[in-house]
Amino acid sequence: MTEVVHTPRVFSGIQPSGGLTLGNYLGAMKRFVELQDAGEMPTIFCMVDLHAITVWQDPVRLRHATRELCAGFIAAGIDPEKSILFNQSQVPEHAQLAWIFNCVARMGWMGRMTQWKDKAGKNSENASLGLFAYPALMAADIMIYHATHVPVGEDQKQHLELTRDIAIKFNNDYDVNFFPVVEPVIEGAATRVMSLRDGSKKMSKSDPSDMSRINLTDDADTIARKIRKAKTDPAPLPDNVEGLADRPEARNLVNIYAALADTTPEAVIADHAGQQFGTFKPSLADLAVAKLAPISEEMDRLMQDVDQIDRILGRGAERAREIAAPILERTYDIVGMVRAQGA
Ligand code: TRP
Repeated sequence: MTEVVHTPRVFSGIQPSGGLTLGNYLGAMKRFVELQDAGEMPTIFCMVDLHAITVWQDPVRLRHATRELCAGFIAAGIDPEKSILFNQSQVPEHAQLAWIFNCVARMGWMGRMTQWKDKAGKNSENASLGLFAYPALMAADIMIYHATHVPVGEDQKQHLELTRDIAIKFNNDYDVNFFPVVEPVIEGAATRVMSLRDGSKKMSKSDPSDMSRINLTDDADTIARKIRKAKTDPAPLPDNVEGLADRPEARNLVNIYAALADTTPEAVIADHAGQQFGTFKPSLADLAVAKLAPISEEMDRLMQDVDQIDRILGRGAERAREIAAPILERTYDIVGMVRAQGA
């Protein structure tokens, strides 16, 4: 068993299952852009449309959401020349490796996934088989590129641990050192952006109240209004971050401010200590509009030319396959599949 040194490579994915929120931007895309611009490792970003259909998606809306997500990535600063940007279903190697991983992962492992339990709920008999197998496809997304660094939110940590388990079991079962053991990259001030109406819930595109979230497609007036109306408590801002411990709504707004301003919650508190929300919220609204309005305008502009978006995704898929195809071939070979000569 030879030791393989894996070249560092970043991979992450976002589901095209609805509109993009400030949570996607601050919790994911902004960090993706930083990793891309740092230039230390190749970066690969994927719109995981095959994951989206583990629950029902209207076809017209799915296609629109995939293109809009692509526009969002680019508007947020992902350069499709520097990074590889594509949608999952155009690279069949993801689904092909996922099948192999379905045969490596154990039912018991999958049954312990909290996202499965949450999403399937009491009616798991009626959930799709794809929803149960979701984490094996996610493991394949990562492993088909031998990616070593995976920036995700806290809620995906369990799936990454499963990815490690699958890689380790595969390597053991076949007595190889083929798949790398991935590192989650979970850091940053506003990794978790919470609802503007309830500081204990994650900001979500599926929340029934539109006031609970900032959509990347919201215009300047809407962004400002949502921030002004965000739930808070009556106390002024404390003079240290410990003072935010039991104040989830206040903490959320400070975290959002810090992330948008590229600074730390400590620095925000130092600048705004003792302020009432009547003063802090307008500053936050100005900052949010300054940072987000250009993104929403750029998304709008990109969405005017859908053919161009489709060309970008097609080109991204080609580049992705150049990495994925040989890794799938080698996997098939390890597993014992007969391959055509000279392929
Ligand atoms: N499951 C991730 C989420 O819901 C999306 C995802 C799919 C992903 N495949 C991935 C993230 C691979 C990182 C790496 O957020």
